[in-house]
Amino acid sequence: MMLHVPNVLSKTQVAQIREAMQQNDQWISGSKTAGHQATKIKNNLQIDANSDLYKDLNTFIFQAIQSNLLIQSFALPKKILPPMFNCYQDGGHYGNHVDNAVQWSKLDQTAIRTDVSITIFLSEPDEYEGGELIVEDCYGSHEVKLDAGDAIVYPATSLHRVESVTKGVRIASFTWMQSMVKDDWQRSMLFNLDMTIMSLKQKIGDCEEVLNLTNHYHNLLRQWGDV
Ligand code: NI
Repeated sequence: MMLHVPNVLSKTQVAQIREAMQQNDQWISGSKTAGHQATKIKNNLQIDANSDLYKDLNTFIFQAIQSNLLIQSFALPKKILPPMFNCYQDGGHYGNHVDNAVQWSKLDQTAIRTDVSITIFLSEPDEYEGGELIVEDCYGSHEVKLDAGDAIVYPATSLHRVESVTKGVRIASFTWMQSMVKDDWQRSMLFNLDMTIMSLKQKIGDCEEVLNLTNHYHNLLRQWGDV
């Protein structure tokens, strides 16, 4: 299951990030951070993780992810890897791949298991041509190109690619989360139950049945989760 999360960053926050990137050019070749297989298909730029700019920007995005209730409910993150930044232009692309199961923080080298992927778009769709994120899952192929500030969250087990950017520049932030619930299907069921409880609460307020469903949610999370 994939989730489109609108306004993870406000337009003002996106503008601040883009301004900081422009004032302090820290882009390096993305192939430096790719595994052996990926270097053959990856053609983009990433912000140097050793730069001060990276330290500021990754904290900013990390906090935006951590404080977003929809992302919390959907991903149930146990650990969030410090977010990274990429830039595609001049035909830049990233061919079909599944991300590595384990990723290390560029800041402190701690490892996480990648259960859930997130991409936050930092360019508006009309700023570039191509550059769609294509995610394949058991329901087919999904084409994703979102407004700046919006995010797509999807299981890291999915095969995915970024199409060539044929005009303009596509800037995004991306990272992975280790979830308290490793299984995609269990995580989707918990999310759907949580959303249904929220909606019921809004429609009819707190009542015994809503309380019972909430208890049920927490008992399932206790059963499936690992903190
Ligand atoms: Ni990837």
